Amino acid sequence: MAALTLHHHHSCLQASGHLSRRLYHPVFSSFPRNHVKDLNFRLNPTDFSSFSLSTRGTVFAVRALSTTVVVEESPEKKKMVKGIRVYEHGGPEVLKWEDVEVGEPKEGEIRVKNKAIGLNFIDVYFRKGVYKPASMPFTPGMEAVGEVVAVGSGLTGRMIGDLVAYAGNPMGAYAEEQILPADKVVPVPSSIDPILAASIMLKGMTAQFLLRRCSKVERGHTILVHAAAGGVGSLLCQWANALGATVIGTVSTNEKAAQAKEDGCHHVIMYKNENFVSRVNDITSGKGVNVVYDSVGKDTFKGSLACLKSRGYMVSFGQSSGSPDPIPLSDLAPKSLFLTRPSMMQYNETRDELLECAGEVFANITSGILKARVNHKYPLSRVADAHADLENRITSGSVVLLP
Ligand SMILES: NC(=O)c1ccc[n+]([C@@H]2O[C@H](COP(=O)([O-])OP(=O)(O)OC[C@H]3O[C@@H](n4cnc5c(N)ncnc54)[C@H](OP(=O)(O)O)[C@@H]3O)[C@@H](O)[C@H]2O)c1
Repeated sequence: MAALTLHHHHSCLQASGHLSRRLYHPVFSSFPRNHVKDLNFRLNPTDFSSFSLSTRGTVFAVRALSTTVVVEESPEKKKMVKGIRVYEHGGPEVLKWEDVEVGEPKEGEIRVKNKAIGLNFIDVYFRKGVYKPASMPFTPGMEAVGEVVAVGSGLTGRMIGDLVAYAGNPMGAYAEEQILPADKVVPVPSSIDPILAASIMLKGMTAQFLLRRCSKVERGHTILVHAAAGGVGSLLCQWANALGATVIGTVSTNEKAAQAKEDGCHHVIMYKNENFVSRVNDITSGKGVNVVYDSVGKDTFKGSLACLKSRGYMVSFGQSSGSPDPIPLSDLAPKSLFLTRPSMMQYNETRDELLECAGEVFANITSGILKARVNHKYPLSRVADAHADLENRITSGSVVLLP
């Protein structure tokens, strides 16, 4: 058997490989144009009478009849990989480990074989139906690092074997392989381990846009970070400390308090048994903080507003304890507060924004400003356990799933 690759070259097909002259047959130029790019197939060099080739998710049977070549569409055998599928919203038990179909990359797409997948609280929202997936069933997951194994047409600069990372849309990272738009991935520096990269892509880029763009934290600022030992929280504390801010963090356990201190929290509040509003008041001598980064939502939102100084920023970027109750706009007036509900997706809309954001995260990892805490690893097949632990506040730092 010889492996050949057909390329669309000007208006006809060109085959590369041992049999290029034999396959350079005029009939191939009559393939529909959109079917003839980057075809990969195998055939027996001694028997050119019949073979099949597959392109763009369709398999064609090819038969040579004297001078005529007949090309017919034939039912394709789909490529299957192991992954997670959710058929109905609910608890961790709705995460089903199954064979899932992965197609061929279309124009502008790549197929990636995942090496490590990041677990994020947003995956819980989609599983439970707090956020609605585009369709059911769906494969969750919004962060992964893997190796490029196939490249669609129209792409330059992406090579099979490249190590790439992505975070955000499209959903579908909980699988051994997935199709991604090439413009959503970034190359991973060779100095950064793939598991580590998967643990900081989404969380690190979230910390970047929150501290550097949403409300700009500067030397001399005092900030409050809820869930300071969590995935995003840990990186927020480290980064804000490096920017010269005084960091106050809330956590639920002594272990998490110790971690938050190591991560640069100047003051740690145990918000399960301490009133964080009065503690912040004491720590800031009644002045309040410049910014609150609140991902806990329902349980902390109102108290967070009370912790702010005049013209302070209330950054409500998550709802791990449930959606905050609505407040009247007039609640912001006494201190002229700013209130925002940001999402990373809108801060990394363009390719340039994505590259800059990821670049800053990788640079901070390399320079040691950020220390990724890969505190938990689970096999992807046991992601239900990982979800249960994340929801039950058992985890700290980042959780990575291994396919
Ligand atoms: N807007 C965005 O673009 C964006 C991007 C990324 C993440 N986020 C949000 O940021 C938050 C953190 O995400 P993450 O993936 O890094 O998760 P995480 O912080 O590692 O986990 C959530 C943490 O929240 C705390 N928590 C407080 N009340 C809770 C409750 N009732 N149930 C569960 N946890 C509770 C727990 O810490 P303690 O035990 O210390 O209380 C828990 O460990 C999430 O709300 C997520 O949606 C938003």
